[in-house]
Amino acid sequence: MSATSSAPVTSLYIHVPFCAQKCEYCAFYSEASSGELINRYTAALVRELEIVAPELKPKTIFFGGGTPSILNLRQWETILRALEKFNLLGAEEFTIESNPATVSTDKCKLLRDFGVNRISMGVQSLDEQLLDRLGRIHSREQVFKSFDILRRAGFENINLDLMFAIPTQTMEIWRATLNEVAAMQSEHLSSYEVIYEDDTPLFEQLKAGEFSVDENLACEMYEALIDHATATGFHQYEIANFARNKSSSILHPPSSIPSLACKHNVNYWRGGAFHGLGPSATGYVRGVRTKNWANTQLYCEQLEKGRRAIESSEELSPLRRAGEIAAFGLRMNAGWPFEEFQRTTGFDLRREWNSEMNQMVERGWGQITGDRFHLTRAGLRFADAAAELFLR
Ligand SMILES: C[S@@+](CC[C@H](N)C(=O)[O-])C[C@H]1O[C@@H](n2cnc3c(N)ncnc32)[C@H](O)[C@@H]1O
Ligand code: SF4
Repeated sequence: MSATSSAPVTSLYIHVPFCAQKCEYCAFYSEASSGELINRYTAALVRELEIVAPELKPKTIFFGGGTPSILNLRQWETILRALEKFNLLGAEEFTIESNPATVSTDKCKLLRDFGVNRISMGVQSLDEQLLDRLGRIHSREQVFKSFDILRRAGFENINLDLMFAIPTQTMEIWRATLNEVAAMQSEHLSSYEVIYEDDTPLFEQLKAGEFSVDENLACEMYEALIDHATATGFHQYEIANFARNKSSSILHPPSSIPSLACKHNVNYWRGGAFHGLGPSATGYVRGVRTKNWANTQLYCEQLEKGRRAIESSEELSPLRRAGEIAAFGLRMNAGWPFEEFQRTTGFDLRREWNSEMNQMVERGWGQITGDRFHLTRAGLRFADAAAELFLR
């Protein structure tokens, strides 16, 4: 399989470590920054692209962050021209993450011209007070306006990110957001329960007792999400991810993946190889996992000296990697078809993880259906805990 062969890597992730302002809950590596550092990052990224280009033939490209859409036209043009020069354009799926406050018609046109065909936009909520509570820089009106700009620019594959179980969010507010988002008719929906990440203001507020977490309400909200998304034409294919099928007449068995699922992420959950560029990005190529420095200054310094900015790299033992791949794949509704798992990792799930699978079945979290093992609806909610069992 491609993870160990010398065939070119077909998946490229690029981290853009800048945001207009840091949100209260977010632990992604990003900072509010000046144009100067962003220019320096842009030049460094072009160098990193040049170094890895000979090993790449991307079928999927994903610019995540941070807020990639914060780069200005000139910075984007520099990066896109570099991709062109190094022969990296033409991906089947080319996604850029955006914030509703930083979408513009000019940028959309440029991105479309270079083959960007998927936009993922962070909405989080359509309730003005909750947006404020989360430290978001955009209003609900800006969400609708930016979505319109994206559509008019010709983007036919748009993901919207939502969050639930936000402090003070009621079920009524959550349902209203779900209804309004459904009316927007995006092709894809990602919806995450709030995670209280260390060192974020939201976590500090929780620790200080400013609010408490209502686990039951969070569970009910997750149930409402799945029911609502399914009723409005989405197919859940991963814990937090829902997509439409291009042709709605195609029957969709639970073991398959909808046609508008994010191919880049599916490769990741299926244990495929990928290059990760930019500060803090991880990569996995030929059995070796790398991590770039999560420090933009240091990242730039290294690349200015002509070398990659890798902080650590680790060759995983085949069994350890197989355990990780098992855990990733269980995030998907389809779970792991036994044969595919064996082809990917060289290990048989039924031999190596037999007792773990049985344990999950007994708890009502897992199920063997025909030739695959997958989590149940109840199990998906606890997928992280379930996945732990499979790590070696
Ligand atoms: C890199 S951001 C998306 C693009 C852009 N930066 C934005 O926020 O508009 C990725 C997504 O992760 C989710 N996310 C980030 N931190 C989270 C947390 N602590 N808990 C739950 N979801 C989170 C949000 O839905 C966010 O849209
Ligand atoms: S959620 Fe998005 S906009 Fe907010 S700080 Fe994180 S990466 Fe930046």
